[in-house]
Amino acid sequence: MLRDKYCAEVKEDEIGKELRLCGWVFRRRDHGGLIFIDLRDRTGIVQIVFNPEFSIETHEKAHNLRSEYVIAVKGILRRRPEGTENPELMTGNVELWAQELEILSNSKVLPFQLAEAEETSELLRLKYRYLDLRKAEMQRNFFIRHRLTMTVRNFLDSKGFIEIETPMLTKSTPEGARDFLVPSRLNPGTFYALPQSPQLFKQILMMSGFDKYFQIVRCFRDEDLRADRQPEFTQIDMEMSFVEIKDIIEITEEMLAENFKNILGVEVLRPFKQLTYDEAMNRYGSDKPDLRFGLEIHDVSQIVQHSSFKVFLDTLERGGVVKAIRGQGLAILSRSEIDKLTEKVQSFGAKGLAWIKLKNGFESPIVKFFPEQILKELAEKIGAQQGDMLLFIADKKSITNEVMGRLRLEIAEMSRIKREGFAFAWILDFPLFEWNEDERRFVSMHHPFTSPEDKQIEQLLNVSDEAFKDPQSTLKDIKAKAYDIVLNGYELGGGSIRIHRADIQDRIFRVLGIPEEEVKRRFGFFVEALQYGAPPHGGIALGLDRLVMIMTGADSLRDVIAFPKTQRAFCPISEAPTNVDLKQLRELHIKIDV
Ligand code: AMO
Ligand code: AMP
Repeated sequence: MLRDKYCAEVKEDEIGKELRLCGWVFRRRDHGGLIFIDLRDRTGIVQIVFNPEFSIETHEKAHNLRSEYVIAVKGILRRRPEGTENPELMTGNVELWAQELEILSNSKVLPFQLAEAEETSELLRLKYRYLDLRKAEMQRNFFIRHRLTMTVRNFLDSKGFIEIETPMLTKSTPEGARDFLVPSRLNPGTFYALPQSPQLFKQILMMSGFDKYFQIVRCFRDEDLRADRQPEFTQIDMEMSFVEIKDIIEITEEMLAENFKNILGVEVLRPFKQLTYDEAMNRYGSDKPDLRFGLEIHDVSQIVQHSSFKVFLDTLERGGVVKAIRGQGLAILSRSEIDKLTEKVQSFGAKGLAWIKLKNGFESPIVKFFPEQILKELAEKIGAQQGDMLLFIADKKSITNEVMGRLRLEIAEMSRIKREGFAFAWILDFPLFEWNEDERRFVSMHHPFTSPEDKQIEQLLNVSDEAFKDPQSTLKDIKAKAYDIVLNGYELGGGSIRIHRADIQDRIFRVLGIPEEEVKRRFGFFVEALQYGAPPHGGIALGLDRLVMIMTGADSLRDVIAFPKTQRAFCPISEAPTNVDLKQLRELHIKIDV
């Protein structure tokens, strides 16, 4: 061993002992006489002192040390002189007086200083990811990530789950994104798809009798990227046989609670809150509401119908709704600030933003359309007080909800509403189908393997073929045995009880308008497996990266994935994707046409 222990593990009870330590030169302060080095490794920092009176030769050598040189030092551990202790460091009371120094490797001048990495462009940080990853904050994220996967594995093992790997070179899984394709050399002209999730395979494992499966698994989706989306990401994927929704909720909550306790020392409140999809949309304007704060959205259609404000009345007449939210403390906004907010909600899809300030009574260009009694009723319903502002959106219900949901988050930001802790919730009772106006057909809200509610199965099996093309048909009322779990405004995971009857699965494909030929081609193997004794089963997948992001308080998935991709799905360190040799393409029978 080159060293006796990690830097930050030296202890006061070793004072007077000889120690050998290794690490990177984090900071160097040359005081002519004394040279101080902060020596760093993954545990932290320890101060090394080079004193010419202690070893003249070693002191001479230490003059050459620069940032990020890798060194080994042997010396005697001493207590720091009184008044020079550093309480910020775990090793702040001690320092190693160096007798011998070995430079194991030197470093070019860094493209950015590690301590200033925050101000460095992210592209540069990603290009020199190995430097960026040396920072204590980044290392902490990966230790938490590791703890999490270990805890998950141990927990699920203790509950009788077994981890089984499923193929990466496979066939398209319909999770709603574009596939990444891999050409096959041995089968010219054909392609594998990288899995968007192990969905079909984990269901087949239930049909194989494994009963409880899990996998910490990489998934690939070619979709537009955002701070909470990466083209390759990791799921904690689970599937269980002979279960109901409550069993999956139970085990998922227990697993998450154990992780939060083990890793963050946080006791999360169980059972988690449960909201129906309709409730979430109506009260928070989102199917992944941030429940760390209240600020609910109120339907005020009934109240404002007694006003004479034409915008509201026209909307109601056309079957729309008027919703309002409390702008806490926002009566101070200037006209130009309100104009800016209006432009913002317009960019969310609203036609405009109506507002009434509670300031010396009610103040707004539109108060003249509202009798005093109605203004009071509105303020009361919304829970607004002097100094607040009432904000209204009138539109079709779906647009109003969506815009209000985003406005709610905007207000939380503007009003500096406290958003602390971890607010978990289950969203239940999703519709099974969603009407897609562009394609003029129903699509699955989750995926096509999701079971309808038991009491609606007959309804689904009996609905006429004409209903498939009719957005107003009763198909829109069929609920799914699906659930999402949300945390602090993120969709953390989702799952469902699956269809285990071939006739129902067949029916779903027909509603979705997938021709029999295509079903055979894409899911034939799966549909066939359903015909050989499939147990009732269900499962869930949690986004591991998102979970780590929230647990560490990181702003982006990129801070919890060692080698992430940029917005353009580019890997700055390896510079993938790249061109390939013509020879390789020829072997794959591929011609490039760009
Ligand atoms: P779903 O598509 O909802 O479900 O994915 C489950 C969870 O995976 C995470 N996730 C992502 N994380 C980072 N980047 C992405 N591009 C990305 N896409 C999804 C989210 C999401 O909630 N097979 C089903 C699960 C099931 O039914 O059991 C599935 O994949 O946190
Ligand atoms: P720091 O907060 O670690 O930068 O330390 C502040 C200053 O204290 C340094 O710039 C050093 O000059 C001085 N210092 C730290 N350790 C010692 C020491 N063991 N003996 C003398 N001065 C010290």
